[in-house]
Amino acid sequence: MSINIRCASTEDLLNIQHCNLQCLPENYQMKYYLYHALSWPQLSYVAEDEKGRIVGYVLAKMEEDCEDNPHGHITSLAVKRSHRRLGIAQKLMNQASRAMVECFGAKYVSLHVRRSNRAALNLYTSSLQFEVSEVEPKYYADGEDAYAMKRDLSSFYQEKNAAKEKVNKDGTPHMHTGRCCEHS
Ligand SMILES: CC(C)(COP(=O)(O)OP(=O)(O)OC[C@H]1O[C@@H](n2cnc3c(N)ncnc32)[C@H](O)[C@@H]1OP(=O)(O)O)[C@@H](O)C(=O)NCCC(=O)NCCS
Repeated sequence: MSINIRCASTEDLLNIQHCNLQCLPENYQMKYYLYHALSWPQLSYVAEDEKGRIVGYVLAKMEEDCEDNPHGHITSLAVKRSHRRLGIAQKLMNQASRAMVECFGAKYVSLHVRRSNRAALNLYTSSLQFEVSEVEPKYYADGEDAYAMKRDLSSFYQEKNAAKEKVNKDGTPHMHTGRCCEHS
């Protein structure tokens, strides 16, 4: 199965919304998807199958209230049932996190997850080095508690610096994912 991970565009938003409706009880109006795509076009990613169908997405943003400690936030993440356990969520999350570092200098990324969401909790703690920062009681509309989680992004800085050094040594441009070079 060949899966392509790429930056999301506004043309993807209906398909992202469709995937979200299939996978999660937290759903959003189209204007909220558009707000993400227009404000942080570098940060959201989709996974598409060989026919170009969206099988997963990560919707991400920067928090706007903290210039001295920039950090990103994962608004939503989902992979269709037919495509789970292939490492797609892990890749989507790493791409979004890398773009937060490269484009906005993010120090960490945060998210919320339902206490009962074993698959997502396992993904965040075992594969992505997130840690629980606090429990937010009754965070969800149905009364379930959320774990607020954070992941330190310093490892992506090391990656970024290594890429820069490579440019200096052999003169070839490093490969950027997303569209961060447009803004630098
Ligand atoms: C959670 C979710 C996004 C994971 O997507 P995925 O593409 O299947 O995840 P990955 O294949 O990248 O999994 C990476 C690791 O996460 C953990 N993991 C993922 N799904 C798991 C499951 N069902 N049970 C236990 N661990 C799981 C495993 O450690 C896995 O590594 P492994 O397959 O080598 O054991 C997907 O199950 C989903 O869309 N769920 C519904 C929506 C949702 O809960 N979103 C998150 C909201 S906070």
